Amino acid sequence: MSLHLTDITLTYPDGDSRLTALDRVTLHVPRGCLTAVIGPSGSGKSSLLAVAATLVTPDSGTVSVAGTDTSGMSRGDLADLRRHRIGIVFQQANLLPSLTAVEQLQVMAHIDGRRPSTVRGRAMDLLDAVGLAHLADRRPQQLSGGQRQRVGIARALMNDPGVLLVDEPTSALDHERGAAVLDLLARLTHERATATVLVTHDQALLSVADHVAEVHDGRLGRSAPARSAPDRSAPAR
Ligand SMILES: Nc1ncnc2c1ncn2[C@@H]1O[C@H](COP(=O)(O)OP(=O)(O)OP(=O)(O)O)[C@@H](O)[C@H]1O
Ligand SMILES: [Mg+2]
Repeated sequence: MSLHLTDITLTYPDGDSRLTALDRVTLHVPRGCLTAVIGPSGSGKSSLLAVAATLVTPDSGTVSVAGTDTSGMSRGDLADLRRHRIGIVFQQANLLPSLTAVEQLQVMAHIDGRRPSTVRGRAMDLLDAVGLAHLADRRPQQLSGGQRQRVGIARALMNDPGVLLVDEPTSALDHERGAAVLDLLARLTHERATATVLVTHDQALLSVADHVAEVHDGRLGRSAPARSAPDRSAPAR
């Protein structure tokens, strides 16, 4: 599943005028590709992710998920799209304090109208994929910052999204743990063939990205291949 943002402009009210947070941004993320978006604070990175997640409607431009233009979709259809096709990992993992790691994942099925008990196996498989199966019964305060981030990533994958959007997943982590989280995201992107957009301002972590896009004052700069392209020979989904 691919993600296409085409000619996106987004403004916010700013006193008597408007602030341009995104200025004619075009970004294409193929399936199986990890694109890193870097840029200084206030440059528009989180705004870009909010538009890609269909949480914010741009002033102009289109967002397409798996070739489907989202501009004409109703709020209900957009909510469905987010539930089934888009995984979002916020800067803070936003885990529910009273739930164990595996329950954080199971609750995603509940939101989707399925019984959490029917998806425990899948939740455990995903915790295993992020290296946390042995901590499945711990609550957030019994986990480290990096472990919480990994629970957040596993949770975002629970409904098998084709698009994965990740905002500053390493900001609370030291370099080593940040690098481990990014390696994990790169592996999951290639294994699950997600179109992944990762926002970061940590240049040191960019080596895992397939493409790097720079954003300055709402404008996207050159998009350079950071390393060899991933294998996209698997059948389209
Ligand atoms: N809801 C809002 N209303 C008005 N202005 C906003 C709003 N959200 C963001 N902005 C402004 O839009 C610009 C882009 O903000 P954005 O959050 O996208 O930046 P960012 O690149 O994610 O920054 P950071 O690295 O600090 O998270 C900033 O100038 C910010 O002040
Ligand atoms: Mg931000």
